[in-house]
Amino acid sequence: MAEASPIQHRTRRGVLVWTLLAVAVTTAIAFDALRDRPRLPPPETEAPVEMPPTDRAFVLPSDPPDLPLGPHREEFAVSCTICHSTRLVANQPHFPQKKWAEIVHKMVAVYGAPLAPDDESRIVEYLMTMRGRPE
Ligand code: HEC
Repeated sequence: MAEASPIQHRTRRGVLVWTLLAVAVTTAIAFDALRDRPRLPPPETEAPVEMPPTDRAFVLPSDPPDLPLGPHREEFAVSCTICHSTRLVANQPHFPQKKWAEIVHKMVAVYGAPLAPDDESRIVEYLMTMRGRPE
């Protein structure tokens, strides 16, 4: 058999390169089409999974505020727990009434606690029960 001339050799290589290129492009298009195919929802004939009965119960930790009873306790619990816990208040030293009034007013004037003026004095009364001391 006669040897292939350089021209025939180049042509064969060209055919091979073009074939490989065509295969690569076709594969890429096919993969792309598969990727974009919308996913089918799971068949609706599947029966719901029955969970076996269990004797386990989840008991969530309970940490109720430890607030002593006293007049206007509710107002305090509602108004003074919006931004911080009651613990912050309960951990303060025992203050005289004037100091508590200043603190409560600071909560309103500086931090924007939504309190009516009457609430301020009621809450100070409760704070005196909770953490008050005589002047
Ligand atoms: C609008 C938010 C807000 C509300 C409502 C609020 N506080 Fe505060 N309170 C703050 C912020 C902010 C601080 C400062 C916290 C810090 O320094 O870590 C603070 C701190 C305190 C402190 C610590 C001492 C001090 O002077 O900083 C006390 C006591 C206190 N608040 C009591 C109260 C009481 C009583 C009420 C209910 C009348 C109240 N807070 C309602 C925002 C609020």
